[in-house]
Amino acid sequence: MAEKKTFYVTTPIYYPSDNLHIGHAYTEVAADALARFKRHQGYDVMFLTGSDEHGQKIQRIAEERGITPKDYVDKIVANFTNVWETLHISYDDFIRTTEERHTKAVQEIFQRLYDSGDIYKSEYEGWYCVPCESFWTEHQITQDHICPDCERPVELVKEESYFFRMSRYADRWLKYIEDNPDFIQPTSRRNEMVSFVKQGLEDLCVSRTTFDWGIPVPFDPKHVIYVWIDALANYITALGYPSEDESKFRHYWPADVHLVGKEIVRFHTIIWPMMLMALDLPLPKKVFGHGWLILESGKMSKSKGNVVDPLVLVDKYGVDAVRYFLLREIPFGADGHYSEDALIKRINSDLANDLGNLIYRTLTMMRKYFDGEVPVPGPEVAPDNELKQVAQEAVTNAEAAMERLEISTALDAIWDLVKRANKYIDETAPWTLAKNGDNERLATVMYNLAETGRILAVLLVPYLTSTPGLIWEQLGLDGSPSDAGWDTAKTWGLLTPGAKTHRGAPLFPRIDPDKEEQAVKDQKLEAKPVKEPEKATEENIITIDEFAKVQLKVAEVLVAERIPKSNKLLRLEVAIGEEHRQLVAGIGKSYEPEELIGKKIVVVVNLKPAKLMGVESNGMLLAASFPAAKGEDRAISLLTVDRPIDSGASVR
Ligand code: ME8
Ligand code: MG
Repeated sequence: MAEKKTFYVTTPIYYPSDNLHIGHAYTEVAADALARFKRHQGYDVMFLTGSDEHGQKIQRIAEERGITPKDYVDKIVANFTNVWETLHISYDDFIRTTEERHTKAVQEIFQRLYDSGDIYKSEYEGWYCVPCESFWTEHQITQDHICPDCERPVELVKEESYFFRMSRYADRWLKYIEDNPDFIQPTSRRNEMVSFVKQGLEDLCVSRTTFDWGIPVPFDPKHVIYVWIDALANYITALGYPSEDESKFRHYWPADVHLVGKEIVRFHTIIWPMMLMALDLPLPKKVFGHGWLILESGKMSKSKGNVVDPLVLVDKYGVDAVRYFLLREIPFGADGHYSEDALIKRINSDLANDLGNLIYRTLTMMRKYFDGEVPVPGPEVAPDNELKQVAQEAVTNAEAAMERLEISTALDAIWDLVKRANKYIDETAPWTLAKNGDNERLATVMYNLAETGRILAVLLVPYLTSTPGLIWEQLGLDGSPSDAGWDTAKTWGLLTPGAKTHRGAPLFPRIDPDKEEQAVKDQKLEAKPVKEPEKATEENIITIDEFAKVQLKVAEVLVAERIPKSNKLLRLEVAIGEEHRQLVAGIGKSYEPEELIGKKIVVVVNLKPAKLMGVESNGMLLAASFPAAKGEDRAISLLTVDRPIDSGASVR
């Protein structure tokens, strides 16, 4: 049996701090998507994360709190794993740098480097940034003695130290980067690192004597090993290097990708490869430096007090919504802005509207027309081939994007299919086929929609953790989309007719951006009902001011359903910009509820609320009818907008 290909992905190991924030979650969710994608493709995946628990910074925080560093980190790290579980992070191993498997291995690594002459003892005099745990030379810092990375004050350090002969490896490193141009990604970060090394590398100070919260140098225990040497080694100590059992190390190393934030690219692309060169070990295949999540108030950081807690967000919006936002909103690599508004917009448009509605409409119609049972499709006609083609492209494009670590592009590609399928519903108008008794065509259309749902469930496995399974189950499929594997999205037609589908609740409820604000708006509207229009003149002419009293707006239909016991009335929920409203419309003889969802219509918004069959209507939609008089057989056509425009736009 052929052995599975391996894929080893790591995230940084995090410093214990009171709360992991959404910025940390960003790295972790991205790595998780990558790990799930590779597992889905059939790889033997190793996904590692952990905690970076030593160093002067941690020791100082513990001292301030009057507890031992060990008590401090123990308490906090327990909370890390809780956050990762909540976000459904599927790591295979979690390494703590205080674990014996790590400390012993780091001591052995230090010893080997000493024995090979890569580490020597001398005296260090220079600058140190405690928050970054980073050494700086005189010419690297500004005159004000500010850290070039985090812009906080650096401290003068003068002590006996061990040094790592980095200078020995500069040429080999430059050659390596030239031969392996993809090693550091994105390219801009590679160029930065190359010019950094070309400026000339000094040997690196790798031990400290003025505090003791660290791993002791084995042959000189008044020194503790520099925390970055300790931390970087986690990527191999977690695999058992060096130890009696190095089978895992041989199996997974070299790593396929280290994902890291851009401010620690320097450590991962210069110090770490040089350590590996000195140990005669292969280098990781890739280091990818992603950007930061930025708030209006700047980069999220504890010292600024502007942290966003992922647990709170998951509680409010659900884990799939938070994961989707992090993966979709920001091109992976660039800095991106985080706001709760942006999150809500993504949920409402991409998840509730595009994806949720597609599945909901499909299953509603399946129930109505085929009693929920997936029918046998008939011959293919346009635009069936186009839908199939977009499905094919979604798979190919998403796969290619994931290989380039362009996670948001992969989701874009998948949403191309979601949107094409929604358009397919509008083009094929199943309700008309049903009305005309065109059962064969209706069967084909409904089969194609359900099959699209199956493909989407498979494609979404790396990104969303519960939605793919829900879609799968609602489609009446056995097993799970992750068991099916990524490649099953490549073949059209694997859904077997006869599957019993059942519609569940909408996958993503829409979020009202500000219910409070909404309530206030409604009150105002009721408190100020418009006056009865003035009597028209003989020629029925009104002034522009009179017309302006009627407020018309573009509204998007979110929900449409029949009002029980009425064959004419539909209850609609519409979005008018940020606002949500309920309308009752007498168009039920001409329109099926399913065909209205997603339509942009025109609504009179300042009409006095009324009740129809006990249901409150806050506004009136505009429709043309012929003949104009009220009668049984009028043709009705809704007023819609003829170009894309956001709901809330005013009409005049
Ligand atoms: O650097 N947006 O740990 P750390 C995006 N222990 N990413 C962010 C972020 C934000 N607002 N804030 C933090 C360390 N991160 C070391 C790593 S690895 C051998 C040792 C990311 O807890 C940050 O970029 O300060 C980094 O990749 C990770 O969180 C850990 O940061
Ligand atoms: Mg940091």
